[in-house]
Amino acid sequence: MSKATFDPTKYNKSNNVPFATVMENHLSRRDFVKRGLGLSAMTAFAGTGLAACSSDNDSSTPPPTTTPPPAETPPTKSSAVLGFDSIAGSKLDAVAVPAGYSAYVLAPWGTPLNSKANAWKEDGSNTAVDQENAVGMHHDGMHFFPLNDAADDGLLCINHEYINQNALHPMGPTLDANGKRTVIDEVRKEINAHGISVVRIQLKDNMWQVVENDSHNRRFTGATVMDVAGPLAYTSYLETRYSPDGSQARGTLNNCGNGYTPWGTYLTCEENWPGYFVNHGTLTEDQSRIGISTSDTRYGWNHLAGNDEERLDEFARFDITPTGSSAANDYRNEANGHGYIVEIDPYNPNSRAVKRTALGRFRHEGCTFGKLEAGKPITFYSGHDSRFEYLYKFVSDAVWDEADANATNRLVMGDKYMNSGTLYVAKFSEDGVGAWLPLTLDSTTIDGNTLADSFDSVAAIILNTAGAADLVGATPMDRPEWAAVDPFTGSVYLTLTNNTKRTDDTNPANPRLNNSFGHIIRWDEGEQATEFNWDIFVFGAPTDADEETNISGLNDLNQFASPDGLAFDQRGIMWVQTDNGADEVEEYTNDQMLAIVPSTLVDDDDNQQVVSADNQSELKRFFVGPNGCEVTGFAITSDYSTVFANIQHPSNWPYSSNAAEETPAGMTLRPRDATVVIRKNDGGEVGV
Ligand code: FEO
Ligand code: CA
Ligand code: CA
Ligand code: CA
Repeated sequence: MSKATFDPTKYNKSNNVPFATVMENHLSRRDFVKRGLGLSAMTAFAGTGLAACSSDNDSSTPPPTTTPPPAETPPTKSSAVLGFDSIAGSKLDAVAVPAGYSAYVLAPWGTPLNSKANAWKEDGSNTAVDQENAVGMHHDGMHFFPLNDAADDGLLCINHEYINQNALHPMGPTLDANGKRTVIDEVRKEINAHGISVVRIQLKDNMWQVVENDSHNRRFTGATVMDVAGPLAYTSYLETRYSPDGSQARGTLNNCGNGYTPWGTYLTCEENWPGYFVNHGTLTEDQSRIGISTSDTRYGWNHLAGNDEERLDEFARFDITPTGSSAANDYRNEANGHGYIVEIDPYNPNSRAVKRTALGRFRHEGCTFGKLEAGKPITFYSGHDSRFEYLYKFVSDAVWDEADANATNRLVMGDKYMNSGTLYVAKFSEDGVGAWLPLTLDSTTIDGNTLADSFDSVAAIILNTAGAADLVGATPMDRPEWAAVDPFTGSVYLTLTNNTKRTDDTNPANPRLNNSFGHIIRWDEGEQATEFNWDIFVFGAPTDADEETNISGLNDLNQFASPDGLAFDQRGIMWVQTDNGADEVEEYTNDQMLAIVPSTLVDDDDNQQVVSADNQSELKRFFVGPNGCEVTGFAITSDYSTVFANIQHPSNWPYSSNAAEETPAGMTLRPRDATVVIRKNDGGEVGV
């Protein structure tokens, strides 16, 4: 269930309501069939190897000189058939999996990565140094990077979104009479429990296990020094006492969704980072737009500023109130080093992480690349997870060279594809038509000016990405979370988790008032980088809701709310994970993971269909998490024999390494976030 760091304040004050369309208008599209450029164009071009999508450089691409033989035509439809029976809801201190499957715990919070860490202690007494050398807390986005192309040996990269202070410390955080933090080691431990873990794991005797002391094992924490690249690097916006030349930032915070790149690096996304900073003075325009606090920080890390034992302003930097004579003398710009997509090369333990500023600065949920086409730009999609915020895409200037997939200097590939390009924001219109609005200096604003009238550089636009998006008229969405790309159709799917504050201003893409249950939208790129076509794939809802709410006809075997984590595997199975905050569904089941094969939902003319009462049995519940948790983060091995999913903030779990073993009634555990390994008992492919 949903908890914790989500900030419900509406920071978008632009009131962009470009459409007066209401529910009735949407519901009149009862056929829900995709139209226009979208899939039909994609299908038509598939046989030539030409992209139907995401380039405004089409004219520069020479036409193919020969027609490839039909045998090379890639299929546009998955052959996967879900081979398990949808499971019932569950409300236990245990996970639930289909018959014939098992689940066990891997790399829970506190697992030592090297010999500098003591074993995890049940009383919460591990130190900050232990935590710096052990798996972090509140597992979220995740990816598996094979070593030597193996399906039984690799590196698991795990995000650690935030912390449970009560579980992290023996008795919760120590506070003085004024509610201020007093214990340095506790604060350092909290900072070290954030970030990312890179964990070497191997399948031995049919069980995945962490390889302690492997040279790849490492932690990136809320304090790790990182490079900054792209338009903000080396600008005065990033000038601090620690990094006077604006080349570096310290730490990555609130890493929620994730992505990965075609060249083998991990992408981690900084989501609700504004809450970690405070400005006691007057907020700048971008600070106000993104939601920096004027009262205090989330966990009070700034309270220890000036302590005799403080090193390199490790606590002072969270207070961004201007106090010095210039930016080089204080931390007024410290928060400007946060809000980005961060690239990590898990294969090179000596590499630094790089913040890729060109992809925008906001509360990034995830980062997903579109279907690759050799010779075409690469597109990355990322949602801004707050109420009434926007969906963005970044289109690289460089075009994709397939040889780069095997490059050994991976972060140089990141420089090539992620430092220069165009950032766009989405505007969804009626009838399934959409436009990508560029966030460039010459972009036209809704009041007839250009962004150059409000911003003096691309760096300034990126610093206040959401503010620029307001001006061009982007569509306010119901909390964009993860995106995922169907490997067969190239269609992009995006979870919109919920928005109970949408009380009077629906738009075609967000058609429900008081949207408690969320929906999944999808689109196909058009022939120009500025065009797309979209529809709504499925609406979350409780089974017993009326048909105006349960629009997709869900039943007990697939009812869900608040879709969040989203992933496709290469067989075309889409995995949907939930972070539910709606009582109507929660009374039936804990958070869960469902599966569906969207490319097979087609009519007689191969038009893609959405989930409806006619086909809802295609959407199956595969997994249910323990009480109190959210299910998030998905990874799968190349042989499809192992799925990894994360359990975040369980309330009283895990009792044993068997994730499906229930905590005995009356027993209270110190809860541990963990990865769960899901395998078929016969070792076969998961899901089919
Ligand atoms: Fe951290 Fe948007 O969920
Ligand atoms: Ca969460
Ligand atoms: Ca999430
Ligand atoms: Ca969420």
